[in-house]
Amino acid sequence: MEFKDVMQQRRAVNFFDLTQDVTDEQLRQIIETAARAPSGFNLQPWRVIVLRDKEKKETLKKVAMNQPKITEAPVVLIVLADREGWKKGNPSFEKDFVESVKEGIMRQDQYDWFCKATNNLYGASPERQLAFACKNAGFFAMSLMLAAKDAGLDSHPMDGFDIDGVRKAFNIPDQYWIPLLLAIGHFDKTKTLLPPKWRKSYEEIVY
Ligand SMILES: Cc1cc2nc3c(=O)[nH]c(=O)nc-3n(C[C@H](O)[C@H](O)[C@H](O)COP(=O)(O)O)c2cc1C
Repeated sequence: MEFKDVMQQRRAVNFFDLTQDVTDEQLRQIIETAARAPSGFNLQPWRVIVLRDKEKKETLKKVAMNQPKITEAPVVLIVLADREGWKKGNPSFEKDFVESVKEGIMRQDQYDWFCKATNNLYGASPERQLAFACKNAGFFAMSLMLAAKDAGLDSHPMDGFDIDGVRKAFNIPDQYWIPLLLAIGHFDKTKTLLPPKWRKSYEEIVY
């Protein structure tokens, strides 16, 4: 699809076709495409829990305002934002920096500079840690929605859920914030979506 069409045709789809699945191959393609999203220092502080199982989706629905699309969509992702993704010892950090030193791509003094920089930028306060995690995971989540559209699928982002309830039900460690849930599937063409919603104009956006 043309990028412009992907942007215009992506909608938060409320109704999913119960008869159409999302294959593992499609899901892999969507996640791998979205993984091209940018992130600070390329730290990629995002992960997802994939729910397909009906019971698991029922469990999620109970802590997500009983939103019907959770059980109607074939796949629901719990998007996780890693508040510690900037820390020494985190797999992405290690791969970015430690491995680069080992491979001789990065000097030790450059490594030390990066350690200090990520600590100062992202580790300075709980607020900074959360901002780091969520802004990057947000880019990833947006990319998931666009990649799904491009693959001929539809999606619906949701932050209408009880974060502590989701955390407890799926044993999600404190290290992760949960910015959103994302339902993915095929729009039920027997239903009608509301017309596209208004968007801010250029003038309203530019300060
Ligand atoms: C972070 C985020 C959270 C959202 N949470 C919900 C939700 O819990 N339930 C819901 O029905 N829609 C939710 N939406 C969908 C928005 O209402 C929708 O994207 C917006 O109205 C624009 O419509 P469109 O996506 O069809 O263009 C959410 C969207 C975003 C980006």
